[in-house]
Order: sequence, then C-alpha cells, then structure tokens
Amino acid sequence: MSGSLSVIGLGPGCASQLTPQATLALQSAQVLFGYGPYLDRVPVRAGQLRLGSDNRQEIDRARLALAQAAAGAQVAVVSGGDPGVFAMAAAVCEAIEHGPAAWRELDITIVPGITSMLAVAARVGAPLGHDFCALSLSDNLKPWAVVERRLEAAATAGFVIALYNPISRARPWQLDRAFDLLRAHLPPDTLVIFGRAVTRDDENVQVTTLTLAQGSAADMATCVIIGSAETRSIARENRSALVYTPRSMGESST
Ligand SMILES: C[S@@+](CC[C@H](N)C(=O)[O-])C[C@H]1O[C@@H](n2cnc3c(N)ncnc32)[C@H](O)[C@@H]1O
Repeated sequence: MSGSLSVIGLGPGCASQLTPQATLALQSAQVLFGYGPYLDRVPVRAGQLRLGSDNRQEIDRARLALAQAAAGAQVAVVSGGDPGVFAMAAAVCEAIEHGPAAWRELDITIVPGITSMLAVAARVGAPLGHDFCALSLSDNLKPWAVVERRLEAAATAGFVIALYNPISRARPWQLDRAFDLLRAHLPPDTLVIFGRAVTRDDENVQVTTLTLAQGSAADMATCVIIGSAETRSIARENRSALVYTPRSMGESST
C-alpha cells in the first residue's frame, strides 16, 4: 500500500465534538504525530505508533510525518480544533511546497474539526452571527506592527474579532495592548468574551465589556471574541445572558 497523510482536527477538546470522519481517520492511521497534549486526547490503539513533540516544532513535525508517509506508512498528524486554522495543515502545505518532489505525489487528506471560536461562540449565543474575522495575536510568525494594523482595520470595518493565541509567557503584554488599541475605535460597552478551555473539564467562560477587559483574564487556552458595535446581550432570569450579533445591520438595540 502506498503511504498517505491525514491532518486531523480534534475539535476544541471534548470527545463529543470530534467528528465521525476524524474518528475513522484516527483509527486507520499507523503512525500518529502531534503536540503531546493533543495526542493524549486520542484513544490508544494497539500497534499504532505515537510520536509527540513540542508545540513550537510544527514544521519539523510536518517534515517527519511527510517522510514517514513517503516511506509507505499511513500517517496522521493531529491538531486541536480545525487543522487549517492557525495549525498543522498549513505547516504540512509549507513543508510540501519546499520539500522533495515525491511529497507532492502523496495522498493528503485534511479532516476538518470544530475550531475554538465556534465552540466559544456556541457557549454564549451567536456573537459570530454577522461578519467576523479571526486573527492570531501571536507575533512569532508576523511582525507586531502587522497585528496592530489588522486589528485596527477589523475594528474600523465593523467586524466581530476572534483572537487566537492571545497571550503566553513569552508574549505577556500583547493582549492588553490590543484592548487599548481597540478602545480607540469601539464603544466602551462593546462585549468581550473570554472562552477558556471550552468543552474541557477546566472550561471557564466570561463575558465583560471592552472597558473592563484585561489581558490577565486570558491564557494560552483562551479564545477571545470582541464584539462589534452591533453585538448585544439578552438578559434572562435564572439563565446566563445570550450574546449575539444580529444578522442584519442597523437593527435597533432598544
Ligand atoms: C495554535 S492555535 C490552534 C487553533 C486550533 N487549530 C483551532 O482551530 O481552534 C491555539 C489557540 O487556539 C485557541 N484554543 C484552542 N483550544 C481552545 C479551547 N478549547 N477553548 C478556547 N480556545 C482554544 C486558543 O486561542 C489557543 O491559544
């Protein structure tokens, strides 16, 4: 049998948000590659080799996985959420683009997963109900000046903004800087959602306003959604408020 490579999205964390296609693809792999905590989510199968690595080693992991597939193995690379959103599918494509010609002939399948912003949005209502965009706040792979420019453009264009990779030990100030920048363009009562480890046992979801939002409310497992001027909250007795962005612009909030 010739080798193949699947890049599989595991969803945000809980088993019930793993797709049936992902489950089948995981079962048919001979070798699994991935960041250790993601591999830990995959049920162990006899005879399946698991090769974990650090989360900063994405391109090396992609090359190793492609080399194994080129040698004839059925290989799977696992990714949290969706593999095409700030994750391994692009790393695999980059490795193919710059790698040996034989890698272009491989059977490559990208298996989508539920990405974090969708899981976080679903917890509070429908904040992504109108136009939105997603940005990685990490300046590891792009200059910080680009992040600022894109944030400003998104806010002034009226997009709801989902921020991935909002903060880390090596990037402690960027999220507060982003909030400061957004305060210059958005109303003070703009809703901000901090969705941490959503669908996992240690999930924590908080809704606040742009005035009160602080970087310290987030960590590496948090996806932050910043509403647009249209995003609003419906108060409910004995239930948490529903946060949503109306499908049509200009709908009155009163
Ligand atoms: C490298 S990105 C990978 C994104 C992933 N491919 C996806 O589609 O969700 C990692 C970021 O995803 C977000 N994230 C991952 N899992 C999450 C979860 N269960 N709840 C909230 N945010 C999560 C956080 O912003 C984290 O910093």
